[in-house]
Amino acid sequence: AVLILLGPPGAGKGTQARMLEEKFGLVQLSTGDMLREAVAQGTPAGLAAKSVMEAGGLVSDEIVLAILRDRLGNPDTRSGVILDGFPRTAGQAAALDDLLHYTDQQVTAAISLAVDDEAMIARVAGRYTCAKCGEGYHDTFKQPAVAGTCDKCGGTEFKRRADDNAETARTRLEAYHAQTAPLIAHYRALGKLEEVDAMGSIDTVASELRMVMEEKG
Ligand code: AP5
Ligand code: ZN
Repeated sequence: AVLILLGPPGAGKGTQARMLEEKFGLVQLSTGDMLREAVAQGTPAGLAAKSVMEAGGLVSDEIVLAILRDRLGNPDTRSGVILDGFPRTAGQAAALDDLLHYTDQQVTAAISLAVDDEAMIARVAGRYTCAKCGEGYHDTFKQPAVAGTCDKCGGTEFKRRADDNAETARTRLEAYHAQTAPLIAHYRALGKLEEVDAMGSIDTVASELRMVMEEKG
């Protein structure tokens, strides 16, 4: 299966992708995570992407596709993938179809997580992750059970993203509305769109997603 998670920043794509990965044995491919890794390693792609990401804009299709192509070809993705934050432009959607065509696959479903703009700013601004395992947390909505200790791995160091402030979040939201939201109509026209209300709690959204997954096989 090839599942796409569409949605504005803070919709919960990363949170839900990690839960689906555990539950259905799919592999989460987050272009945001891959780009942040490239930035941290100082690769040429990372150097080109850094300032664009810090400003909240979209990295060029060329760079994103080069990074994703490597990972999609990896054998660990054979059981199926959840694309988290990709495609984000019409060009990326077309390129994805071409890439999948080589391996005789196609997009199974595009799941759109709908969340209103103000909720999204609040989610992004309170977010932090475990420095060791990447588990996501939130100042208000998802605290570790034991304060200062990761539920998943016991790690005690946490980090925040450079682009997680209210101002940059607004720019990211504009990029979403201008360039990514049109993909909703694109996948609807193909009969592949599933819409999920992402305003509920993390668990409510997760159970709706599970229902969609069970329908899609
Ligand atoms: P990326 O890393 O993809 O960021 P994003 O799309 O802005 O998405 P986020 O990671 O902010 O949000 P999310 O939906 O995953 O929410 P999360 O689950 O963390 O991209 C970053 C940048 O990289 C882009 O701006 C761009 O520059 C570049 N980039 C990446 N891919 C690209 C591409 N394909 N093309 C071009 N450029 C690209 O949840 C957020 C917070 O809310 C968490 O703290 C979580 O605990 C909490 N939360 C989650 N769900 C709920 C809920 N239901 N109720 C309450 N709280 C919740
Ligand atoms: Zn952890």
